[in-house]
Amino acid sequence: MDILDIIRQRQSARVPFDRERPVPAEHMRQILEGARWTPTAHNMQNFEIVVVDDRKLLDAIANIETETSEVFVRENYEQLSFSEEELKKKKVGLLGLMFPPSWRTPGKKPVLDEAHAHSILGEMIRATAALLVVVYDPRRRAPASEGDVLGMISLGCAMENMWLVASSLGVGFHIQSVLSGERVEGEVKKLLGIAEPLKIGFAVRLGYPLSDPKYLRVRRDIEDFVHHNRFGSKGI
Ligand SMILES: Cc1cc2nc3c(=O)[nH]c(=O)nc-3n(C[C@H](O)[C@H](O)[C@H](O)COP(=O)(O)O)c2cc1C
Repeated sequence: MDILDIIRQRQSARVPFDRERPVPAEHMRQILEGARWTPTAHNMQNFEIVVVDDRKLLDAIANIETETSEVFVRENYEQLSFSEEELKKKKVGLLGLMFPPSWRTPGKKPVLDEAHAHSILGEMIRATAALLVVVYDPRRRAPASEGDVLGMISLGCAMENMWLVASSLGVGFHIQSVLSGERVEGEVKKLLGIAEPLKIGFAVRLGYPLSDPKYLRVRRDIEDFVHHNRFGSKGI
């Protein structure tokens, strides 16, 4: 397949996966080979990856209680579109329908209601064939990189490399940022034996979607974000 076709068809698979259908070992290896060849700042290769496919562990992670923050609900609301037309016009952000009604009523301050404040990670992690947990050591950093921004970008490169390989193999891929959130991270680390001071950079659900994961995906046009020679001189 053409590289741009793979890039364009890569998408978030925010649907349950078949938990009885494992990712074949050969495909898992290819996804990890993608991680292996990640470009990283200073070639630090600043990640370790825990592949979790043990049902008991996955279920234990699924049972961890999450806590949505007011900040998330507020900042999420600010970036939502309330109709497909609005999203197509804006070309950035997400459609409100993905979130509970109390977080996405147009013109109404979003409320972190009790029903959704402590949602359990549950459904999505339970409906997963495997989970990749990408770990890094915050004591190391790319040379002279304030806040290790370059190290974080490098983790993003690992994410994309694995995502593209998974996508080309027809394996569903869904980032779970909640696993690196303060409270959840500690519990996941305990379950997986990830020692302090290591941190979870990101986690990914992998598997075969039980329903069509396609949804309205939008992007800006090249002319919207490219500046020619001088910032502000839009276009190629
Ligand atoms: C660093 C990072 C964190 C993300 N965290 C989440 C997440 O926690 N949950 C989720 O459903 N998608 C998450 N995503 C996926 C983005 O929302 C998604 O890539 C974006 O909306 C574009 O959609 P697409 O992946 O279908 O093209 C994350 C993506 C990145 C790069």
